Amino acid sequence: MPADFGVTAVAYPNIALVKYWGKRDENQIIPWADSLSVTLDCFPTTTTVHVRPEADADCLTFDGRPADRGALQRVTAFLDVVRKLAGRAEPAMVATVNAGPTAAGLASSASGFAALAGSAAAAYGLELDGIGLSRLARRGSGSAARSVFGGFSLLHAGEDDHSSFAEPIRAEVDLAIVIVLTGTAPKTVSSRAAMRHTVETSPLYWSWIESGRDDLAAMRDALGRGDLVQVGEIAERNALGMHATMLAARPAVRYLSPSTLVALDGVAQLRRDGIPAYATMDAGPNVKVLCRPEDAGRVVGMARDKLPDCPTAVARRGPGVSVRIEEAR
Ligand code: PMV
Repeated sequence: MPADFGVTAVAYPNIALVKYWGKRDENQIIPWADSLSVTLDCFPTTTTVHVRPEADADCLTFDGRPADRGALQRVTAFLDVVRKLAGRAEPAMVATVNAGPTAAGLASSASGFAALAGSAAAAYGLELDGIGLSRLARRGSGSAARSVFGGFSLLHAGEDDHSSFAEPIRAEVDLAIVIVLTGTAPKTVSSRAAMRHTVETSPLYWSWIESGRDDLAAMRDALGRGDLVQVGEIAERNALGMHATMLAARPAVRYLSPSTLVALDGVAQLRRDGIPAYATMDAGPNVKVLCRPEDAGRVVGMARDKLPDCPTAVARRGPGVSVRIEEAR
């Protein structure tokens, strides 16, 4: 190990096929429900952590520019968790670059905190296996626990820090994920605030949690059998149910935009035309369409036709977090 070194980690966003929404413990980020996702191969976050004993405080750049106070506070809170585990106290310099839009419901917090967990753990000398790293990433953002792994992963909600972790799962299904960027502006309500409000006020919340248990069991079964139609049907109903809980909150939280609904209509039309395509949305207006790899072109064509101003991207299953140590110049 060089005397002066930085650690760079690369992590990819993931899209939940069975979602988590709502936490039993906000401080430790313990979700109320298990969730299951696929990690993508596009829009990675690259984060470098350099421990700086001579510095007074942590500093953070986003895409080469100093980050705002809110982002820095979130990163410092996360580094405090790492420092406590490592028995260390030095500040760090963190540089992060997102290849995709930040905070627009495209899972940038998942790739962001998975990359930060990987780089900060190594920079502060913590030796963690994949499950340990997923526990740590969860402290930054619930969905980040799943981006530690490539392919498909399951986040066990658990009840406390130890029992709340992700692990990779076997899946026989080959799918493409077509991302329709219906809106890339940062969201007006954070997922953290929106989920708290939903748990506290939505009369539909607990019934969605209950149906999510059945969705998860059925999803695991469908993934094991390679049944894309079942995978898609379950993913779409689980996502719409999550948005229904938000729409029923008092007052409502609505991430879906008119363009989201146009894309949903297009997906339904594709199904009527015999193409198995299914939509899922997270805390933002963007639509991710699950389909067979050979149908991705048809899905992109539908999006271009109905939403000519919205960019698209085609993703496949991607890798887990990777970490490399670099000598400082
Ligand atoms: O990772 P968080 O805490 O910002 O939560 C995001 C939750 C969803 O993306 C909406 C669903 C999920 O399971 O990823």
